[in-house]
Amino acid sequence: AVHDQVRAKRHAARIAADMVEAGMIVGLGTGSTATFMVERLGERVRQGLAIKAIPTSNVIGQLAQSLGIVLTDFATHPVIDVAIDGADEVERGSLHLIKGLGGALLREKMVAAAAKRFIVIVDDSKPVATLGERTPVPVEVVPFGWHATHARLEKLGAQRITVRQGAGGMPFMTDNGNMVLDCDFGPIKDAAHLAGLLDRTVGVVEHGIFPDMATDVVVAREQEIEQWTR
Ligand code: A5P
Repeated sequence: AVHDQVRAKRHAARIAADMVEAGMIVGLGTGSTATFMVERLGERVRQGLAIKAIPTSNVIGQLAQSLGIVLTDFATHPVIDVAIDGADEVERGSLHLIKGLGGALLREKMVAAAAKRFIVIVDDSKPVATLGERTPVPVEVVPFGWHATHARLEKLGAQRITVRQGAGGMPFMTDNGNMVLDCDFGPIKDAAHLAGLLDRTVGVVEHGIFPDMATDVVVAREQEIEQWTR
């Protein structure tokens, strides 16, 4: 089953990577599926495809560079032609997402928000009827005063909040020097509403609900592919 999942991720990744055209500015996502996508893009670059990329994490930026993909930044390219990234949950119908189990949600959201087209690549374990069914909402918070932020998140209805752990028994730290609180809200009836509340919570830098951002979702099983468009 794990093997099938890997094959499905690679399949979705390849389809999205092959949608990239010469001259494009490409946003590179983070996670195992996005990694397959960057590897495929690297192959295409080796074959002569000229693109520039903005990575969503230090890790994926290093991988891209090692494969010969030229990196750029928002100062030079404020508009991204296409961003391609994985997701932790995709709500069927609305295409709302939960992202951030990989911890890169802030840069992922900034890159997705700057992109004309945002293609999400997942295996078929990721679609759900209602966001929050299986995944907590990762919330990136400033370390200063995080206990107060934790209390605010409880007030918003988080039933269980876990401090994301990193190496050596220390709290996980994002590329931006922040902490992640994984907030279990249960099934989320109105994702856009909760996203708005989290946006307005003091101490919260960003959160993993991506409402109305994906323009395309590629869902892969081993052989079959489904493509959803908003
Ligand atoms: C990274 O912060 C996340 O948003 C990833 O996109 C998400 O965890 C998907 O990862 P996989 O492709 O490894 O399932």
